[in-house]
Amino acid sequence: MRSVQKSLCALLVLTASLAFLYLHVWSPKPYSVVDVRNRPDQMPSQLLKDHLPLPDKKYAHIAFRIKEEIVELLPKNFCKCEVEASLNLPFQRQLFGQVYSLDFATAFNPSELPDVNIKRAQEYRSYRRRSHSPADQLLIVRANSPLEYPVQGVEVQPLRTILIPGLSLQAVDRALYRVDLSATMGTFDVAAEVEEVKVEGEGEMRLSLSGPHLDNVNRQMQFITYTNTLFHPNTADTVQFSTDGHRATFIIRIRHAPTPRLYHPGSSSGGAGEAEYNVSALVTIATKTFLRYDKLRTMIDSVRKFYPTVTIIIADDSQNPERVEGPHIEQYFMPFGKGWFAGRNLAISQVTTKYVLWVDDDFIFTPRTKVEKLVDVLEKTSLDLVGGAVREITGYTTTYRQQISVQPGNEDGDCLRTRQGYHHVIEGFPSCVVTDGVINFFLARTDKVLQVGFDPRLSRVAHLEFFIDGLGVLHVGSCSNVVVDHASKIKLPWLKTDSEKQYAKFRYPNSSDNSMTTKHSLFYFKNHFKCMTGN
Ligand SMILES: *[C@@H]1O[C@H](CO)[C@@H](O)[C@H](O)[C@H]1NC(C)=O
Repeated sequence: MRSVQKSLCALLVLTASLAFLYLHVWSPKPYSVVDVRNRPDQMPSQLLKDHLPLPDKKYAHIAFRIKEEIVELLPKNFCKCEVEASLNLPFQRQLFGQVYSLDFATAFNPSELPDVNIKRAQEYRSYRRRSHSPADQLLIVRANSPLEYPVQGVEVQPLRTILIPGLSLQAVDRALYRVDLSATMGTFDVAAEVEEVKVEGEGEMRLSLSGPHLDNVNRQMQFITYTNTLFHPNTADTVQFSTDGHRATFIIRIRHAPTPRLYHPGSSSGGAGEAEYNVSALVTIATKTFLRYDKLRTMIDSVRKFYPTVTIIIADDSQNPERVEGPHIEQYFMPFGKGWFAGRNLAISQVTTKYVLWVDDDFIFTPRTKVEKLVDVLEKTSLDLVGGAVREITGYTTTYRQQISVQPGNEDGDCLRTRQGYHHVIEGFPSCVVTDGVINFFLARTDKVLQVGFDPRLSRVAHLEFFIDGLGVLHVGSCSNVVVDHASKIKLPWLKTDSEKQYAKFRYPNSSDNSMTTKHSLFYFKNHFKCMTGN
């Protein structure tokens, strides 16, 4: 009787603690939903409208004279590849080379050009949307001091000239109005001269305007130009703007606009719905194999059932490589045992489509492996990479979502923190979330993966390291409704073939192996981490 009571009590305690654990671990967390869907362009046009210097009604009555030589330097909304006429000097060609001009549209058939142009414009718009940040937007500080100026969003190309938007003075009556500007990496000038305003320092790093009429001084300020003179791309000039007793500072960003890398989306991609994506034109499957040709062939056969013409790129560093042949298959041989990330790097470097789908060589496609669903997420959101789910042979399905963050430390290094989980559910895609790291089954924008790269020094056990390197560059999502099967991982040791044993030796090193040390030394040196916590 007593023992029955005892075990009943023990059972009760066990149930209670399990229930507590369950509530603690699995209770829904207060994740909010986030909308990362692409929106129509939200350029700050309203902001700009009131501040474009020409024409401005308020100052329309004030006369000015255009300085052609300065206006000529300002950016225009078009460009031409004209060969500048030059003086005909002797030996000019031998000394300076022949200046030439090329027209790229001629690379296309005139009949296909309109379609190419539509696709290019569409991809370019979406690139612009993705690369534009609120920090690039022009913002004008309204006069709460007498000075009005642009606080951000002013940009000039190296060694080029712009009009500085948004400068003005809102001062009470006085005999003389005066403003001063100073810069450190460029010079000021005026694109036009306004009556009764004295301009000093044209073509210099300090410019002063003064005059008895406020409107005239303000009109003159609308013509102030800035020319970058120090070639140092991707930096900024800090401009000091002052009037008696008041001083403001703003930034002019100096950089070449990054060159886009666009991919032709293929013929039938209307982008309207997931059924219309041409997966073969948009996606390349990349994988890395090492000795497991039976598994690799099973993977390829399963892909072919659903995507007969999608290109599959295989990086292979086996000791005695076997040829894997077939249509739309590219196999690249590497030196023996080059390793996991080196293989990923090689495979991804050969991709020519907009997206790359990473799969392991022992995955199996099923009707639930709907790549177009992942394409749809990347086409319609600002995400760069989206993971799917992997179903183990036991039936257990995982997305391996990871939150990654770095706490800044001192000279000893920073602290890496990884936790299972995600940040937000994605509006419009209820099975998808925003997170920082995902499983090794993911679709990604090829240009972004190339930008991060896979560190070839990580040769054995590595995965999350790619997402750690990509933190701050990759915008990562994860969807649980696109599932790939994983061929069995667990096999009884005495049933393993020789190649499986050799594979295991490389893939799962025992503690005496130094691959962990390599990994930790890279975290320490390359990433400037001193330590990490994870779960
Ligand atoms: C899909 O793209 C491939 C590769 O670009 C092309 O060969 C094929 O004709 C396209 N399919 C359709 C239905 O347009």
